[in-house]
Amino acid sequence: MIKRNYLLVIGVAVSLVYGGCSGSKKVSSSTGEPSLKEAFKNDFTIGAALNATQIEEKEPNAAVLVPAQFNTITPENIMKCEIIHPEWDRYNFDLADKIVEYGKKNNMQLVGHTLIWHSQLSPFVRQIQSPDSLMQFFSNHITTIAGRYDGKIHGWDVVNEALEEDGSMRKSIFLQKLGDDYVVKAFQLAQKAAPNTELYYNDYNIEQPKKRAGAIAIIKKIQAAGVRIDGVGIQGHWHVNKIPLKDIEESILEFSALGIKVMFTELDIEVLPRNFQGADVSQRVASNPALNPYVNGLPDSVQQQLANDYESLFKLFLKHKDKVTRVTFWGVADGNSWLNGWPVRGRTNYPLLFDRQYKPKPAYYKVIALKTKEGSGEGKKPF
Ligand code: XIL
Repeated sequence: MIKRNYLLVIGVAVSLVYGGCSGSKKVSSSTGEPSLKEAFKNDFTIGAALNATQIEEKEPNAAVLVPAQFNTITPENIMKCEIIHPEWDRYNFDLADKIVEYGKKNNMQLVGHTLIWHSQLSPFVRQIQSPDSLMQFFSNHITTIAGRYDGKIHGWDVVNEALEEDGSMRKSIFLQKLGDDYVVKAFQLAQKAAPNTELYYNDYNIEQPKKRAGAIAIIKKIQAAGVRIDGVGIQGHWHVNKIPLKDIEESILEFSALGIKVMFTELDIEVLPRNFQGADVSQRVASNPALNPYVNGLPDSVQQQLANDYESLFKLFLKHKDKVTRVTFWGVADGNSWLNGWPVRGRTNYPLLFDRQYKPKPAYYKVIALKTKEGSGEGKKPF
């Protein structure tokens, strides 16, 4: 009885969120209508990155939408060094423990992001001078965090963004002080501390041929050392009307030929002007009204192009569903996407499948239709 009442409440809440007052089409997972996770349940998991407010369930719309639509989650920031390991001998696991509980309660896989990354490091790490001390931090950090969550977390982005655009190793503090082998070392430490957790290498633009070759070299080096790597994460921060479908397909094939899982880990499609590709968080562009053209709404033509781009991408993911194991969006709804603040601050961006009211956008319906329409997708109804 309690369970039935609970389901009823959820069902009503979901209907409220999606039905809203604009009269847009209703979507509900609890009434048997499609949700992303149900639509693709035989293909790959579908995820979203959550911010701290969402993890704490302080955002009512997200609290309903996330469990209804997604079966895997990634913390957008709270497992990064600057939050989880603020001082040499102090860790702060509050929010990380909360996302573990949140995932468990809602039956969602959790991907830890990220153990080793040059960005969002705590200030104390940048002050470390000697290679020995940096190695001590490196080892403590991985062992403590990966060890704490082993058995509670599905996978870790062990190393994030270790490559330059030309495929060479990024000149990060880790490369400079620990040398070329630091990536292998990170996986070795993670494997030891977290034998039950999948281990991934994650980066942006690694669908591009030169950078992809660098990623393949890293993966082969880890494998040649006899160390475990379970998957590669192609971040997938792309731009409307410029989705590199051919490069993406080649990457799926080449990475999976290494015997590892392929994941799209930070998917979003930028609709605003930008003159570079990728997601280097240190790149900043001064704000200027010409760079923020859709403050009052997205023109129909762009909305349609965005929907078509998402449809093409998901068609490709479905074509390779035996190799692609997860597709995670970098955010839940347009209003909380990081692309409203990067690389230009204060813009109004529209990169995700749900709008600022948490209602599904045309792109959502096109993606879902790949699995529900007669004759599309694989010709079978998943519901
Ligand atoms: C971004 C977050 O979304 C922002 O909130 C934060 O200010 C900067 O980092 N590649 C990654 C992610 O691996 O961790 C980044 O997340 C986006 C690019």
